[in-house]
Amino acid sequence: MIFPSSPNSIQKGCDLLRSGRVVVMPTETVYGLAADATSDHAVAQIYTLKNRPQFNPLIIHVPALAQAEEIAVFSQQAYALANKFWPGSLTLVLPRRSGHSISDLASAGLDTVAVRIPNHPVALDLLKAYGKPLAAPSANRSTEISPTQASDVQKAFGEDIFILEGGPCQVGVESTIVDLTGERPVLLRPGGVSVEQLESVLGPIDRISESSPIKAPGMMRRHYAPTRPLRLNITEAHPKEAILGFGKCEDLPVTLNLSPSGDLVEAAAHLFRMLRELDSPTYEGIAVVPIPTHGLGLAINDRLSRAATPVE
Ligand code: TXA
Ligand code: MG
Repeated sequence: MIFPSSPNSIQKGCDLLRSGRVVVMPTETVYGLAADATSDHAVAQIYTLKNRPQFNPLIIHVPALAQAEEIAVFSQQAYALANKFWPGSLTLVLPRRSGHSISDLASAGLDTVAVRIPNHPVALDLLKAYGKPLAAPSANRSTEISPTQASDVQKAFGEDIFILEGGPCQVGVESTIVDLTGERPVLLRPGGVSVEQLESVLGPIDRISESSPIKAPGMMRRHYAPTRPLRLNITEAHPKEAILGFGKCEDLPVTLNLSPSGDLVEAAAHLFRMLRELDSPTYEGIAVVPIPTHGLGLAINDRLSRAATPVE
C-alpha cells in the first residue's frame, strides 16, 4: 500500500524495519527497497523480494556524514566529494571501518562498503527516525526498470508492500558510484552526478572498462530492461515502433519526448517512466533517437545500452 508521508507513516515504517521487514523509501534518484542494514535477516528479505543474484552488494543509506564515518573510512578525496555532493546522487565505495555494524550480507562479504546520503525529505525523515543505516537497492525486480514513482513499485510488488509516497523522483536515474578504495578513483556506474561534476573535484578519473571483472552489478550487461526490443541512435522509424525522442526531432513521428528542449537533466528524470509507458502491446519495439553523451547523457546512454542488450 502507498502511504502519504507523515509522522505516523514514518513511525509505522520504523516499526516494520525494526521487525526485520522491508519498506519502500523514496529517494531523489529512484525508489528503494529499504531494510535494516545491520541485520542479515532483514537484508535477506531484500534479495528474496528482488530475485537478485546473491553476489550483488547493496548501497547503504545514512542521514548524515557522522553516520557514514561510523561504517566507512574516509580519505581526503572522500571528504571532498561528500562535502560537495551530499546529500545527493553520489555513492562512495570506501573501505569498511573495523567494528562497524553493517551486515555482511548487505556488502556481499566485501571489505568495502558503498554509502550515500539521499537528497529526499522523506528518505531523510525515515533514516533519522529509524536511527540505523538502511540498505536499499532500487525497488524493482532484478533486470526490470527502476521505479521513479510510488505506483511503479506497487505494480511490481503488489498491495502487501509498505510504500512511503515521495512523489516522482527528481533525478530519475540511479546514483553515480565512485570507487575510492584503489590508488585512483574509478567510476563504477554513471548516474545522477555527472562525470564532469566529479572531475571538477577529483581531476580526471578512470572509467571501468567493459572488459574488467564485474565490480558493480549495475555493470551487468543486461539490466534496466523493457520487454520489447530496443533500438538506439535511430535516424529513421520502423512501422509499429514507438519512438522515444530527445530535442527537436523534426523529421520523426516521435511518440514521447524525453526533453523537447534538449535538457539532459529533464531527460534523465523522464527516462524510466517513458520506457515503461512505451513498453506496451501497442508497439512491437522501442526506438530511441541519439542522445548526447556529456553530463547526465552518459548515464542515460549507459542505461539505454544495457536495456538494448539481447537476453543471453
Ligand atoms: O540511486 C541509487 O543508488 C538507488 C537508490 C535506492 O539509492 N539504489 C541503487 O541500488 O541503485 P542498487 O542495489 O540497484 O545498485 C547498487 C550498486 C550495485 O551495482 C552494486 O554492485 C554497487 O552498488 N555496490 C554496492 N556495494 C559495492 C561495493 N562494496 N563495491 C562495489 N560496488 C558496490
Ligand atoms: Mg537497480
